[in-house]
Amino acid sequence: MENEDVVSVFLKAGILSDKSAIDYVTDNDIDAEDIAEKMLESKMYFATVEVIESVLAEKDADGETRVEIKHAGKKSIAKDIDGSVRISSKHEEEQKTKTITDFVAYFSDRYEKIKNILVSHSDVKNPISINRLEGKANERDVSVIGIISKMDVSKNGHRILEVEDSTGSMTAIIMKDKNVGEDSLILDEIVAFKGGVSNGTLFVDAIVFPEIPVVNNADRKVDDPVSSVFISDIHIGSNEYLQKVEDKFIGWLKGGDNGAGDVKYICIAGDTVDGVGIYPGQKADLKIQDIYAQYRAFEEFIERIPEHIEIVIIPGNHDAVRLAEPQPAFGKDLMPNITGFNNVHLGPNPCRVELHGIDGRQGVNVLMYHGYSFTRTIDAVPTLRVNGMDKPEYVMTELLRKRHLAPMYGSTALMPSGDDPHVISRVPDIFHTGDLHSFALKSYRGVQLISSSTFQGQTAFMDRVGHQSNPGKVTRVRLDSMRPSVLDLVN
Ligand SMILES: [Fe+2]
Repeated sequence: MENEDVVSVFLKAGILSDKSAIDYVTDNDIDAEDIAEKMLESKMYFATVEVIESVLAEKDADGETRVEIKHAGKKSIAKDIDGSVRISSKHEEEQKTKTITDFVAYFSDRYEKIKNILVSHSDVKNPISINRLEGKANERDVSVIGIISKMDVSKNGHRILEVEDSTGSMTAIIMKDKNVGEDSLILDEIVAFKGGVSNGTLFVDAIVFPEIPVVNNADRKVDDPVSSVFISDIHIGSNEYLQKVEDKFIGWLKGGDNGAGDVKYICIAGDTVDGVGIYPGQKADLKIQDIYAQYRAFEEFIERIPEHIEIVIIPGNHDAVRLAEPQPAFGKDLMPNITGFNNVHLGPNPCRVELHGIDGRQGVNVLMYHGYSFTRTIDAVPTLRVNGMDKPEYVMTELLRKRHLAPMYGSTALMPSGDDPHVISRVPDIFHTGDLHSFALKSYRGVQLISSSTFQGQTAFMDRVGHQSNPGKVTRVRLDSMRPSVLDLVN
């Protein structure tokens, strides 16, 4: 096989690779299709020489290639290795009544950040501000970067958009069956439209999404053989809380087997407790009805985790902090016992956190977002509606393409300031979410997507809102190789 053929086999399988891995496969005449198949079975999505060697190393008696994630054994490696957690998102902000000025500043910040991403694309050069196109009779090959403020479909099936920038607004028309990605457009998102202007109206030939570049996370590996675990939606206090999942999780961490010995970090993406008054009639679904008692129970869960493990916790919509995002980090009022613990790191939602950035080396960048915007986003985007609730990776991918965690105004409650915390300015190594209680572990352009499941069984409320619980799935990612694996605590 030539290098191009190997690249083609990997790309077809959704596997990214670095140059040395391709050379290795070609030079050693290795069966690329077999490697790709085995990698997918083990949920590996980035081929490096090391990954391919590990695949080849696993041969059974018949000589068949077999892949297993190598486990650390019972020894706790992580105990003897220093950890580092750096949260770069803002923790607090001043409380004041928000005015229209705050909303204007918020949208201006979003526009500027996403515009900067778009102009870095090779096919969006010299975008024209909308006021310069006003009344133009005929202008060809223009690029306009705008926020979609209105979307309609004409009776003939053409899309009629109102597009704005800071200088004005104009009508943009996408002719029926143009197939330029119009089905994934959502109100309030910012994209670049390319096309021609006729009598002040833009006829769209192409849409450029801000999108993320392909990430080569082989360059970002940390040296130490440590792992991070990703969980979410614990929901302590619910009648359906799965105590046996908590017990098995703690037993696994303390036992140090099946890879737990290298666990240095745990990230928890919100909904730590079931909360109180979150939906009508919730009281009947609660085993612990006092909100403070729920947090005491959650703290006890955290206190059971070995103290050499660094724990990052952000809130979700069931938690008793402000619902409007960015949700502030938990404080002593709700978590009096664990606030101040050296190994507990309380961050806001959304939260950017760097794990294991030590000795002057870059660590692994994790974008944690609980995911409250997901349900309304899935409902608003035709391409997500079909099975988006069961496949969280679809909405996660779409939000990475849009470079925004909650593009549609109203998809989540908002506390606007001059800084839009939902813009995905920096491409993370890992995108970790929760909320839907559906489990997903996928790779998109080299970014590891993790939609954590839950420690809660299916509830009547979840039936009503269309969430299908898939509890007890714990994701572990080895930070020195970025290899993910899954621990199933239910089956
Ligand atoms: Fe939840």
